[in-house]
Amino acid sequence: MLVIKLNAIDSTNDYLKQLNKEKTLSDYTVVTTFSQTKGKGQMGSNWISEPGKNLTFSVLVKDSVTLQSSIFDCNVAVAVSVLEVLQSLKIPNLNIKWPNDILAESKKIGGILIENSIKADGMIDTVIGIGLNINQEDFSGLPSASSLKNIVEKDFDLEFLLEKIVNQLKSNLNKLPLRKEFFWEKYKSHLFKINQPMAFEDLNQNRFMGIITGVSSDGKLELVLEDDSCQTFGLKEIRM
Ligand code: BTN
Repeated sequence: MLVIKLNAIDSTNDYLKQLNKEKTLSDYTVVTTFSQTKGKGQMGSNWISEPGKNLTFSVLVKDSVTLQSSIFDCNVAVAVSVLEVLQSLKIPNLNIKWPNDILAESKKIGGILIENSIKADGMIDTVIGIGLNINQEDFSGLPSASSLKNIVEKDFDLEFLLEKIVNQLKSNLNKLPLRKEFFWEKYKSHLFKINQPMAFEDLNQNRFMGIITGVSSDGKLELVLEDDSCQTFGLKEIRM
């Protein structure tokens, strides 16, 4: 497994996507950086991470479409892989907030950004970007964020964790076609706020109440609304 370690880069996802265009890379090539200067989050947001304290890395999965039968299978397997590694470290109260935020004690400790590129031969390569807050202690101005260190009050070895996560990712993605149901069950059983009434916002900032009942195979959030109707919402259609 090739691990490219950088000192500083704008975004490990962008770097790996570009490198994959220029060179023939092997499956599960990893790019990690000490400092990420323009980290990208979901929906055009930024991912800010204190240099040297956390993990910010990307993993290339070649011809990923052969692994999954629906578009969201990869997200599910990736989120579950991160969750499993954190479970093995005994991090308490872990959840996955739809679509793939990693929470501990209801605070965001990790995020996942998956980007697909269609190649000239029509196959799809996937770059899985993972940001995990590990040893950072100061989250001023980010009240809903935290880190492993703040939760369990100890430091973690970044290289050890990176290797553990990439190995888990590789093992789970290789098993994806066979163990898809298992990953989905695990994803749903850790889904943040499932079966609990909560407030949402639509794109016009109208608030409404609903209960999360699950996630559809194409990755939409399934809700029961106050009038008992069932509706699904895509990432661009709802905020929670
Ligand atoms: C999110 O929660 O919005 C997703 C955050 C993903 C951040 C990671 S850090 C490594 C990789 N490179 C990026 O630019 N983004 C992802």
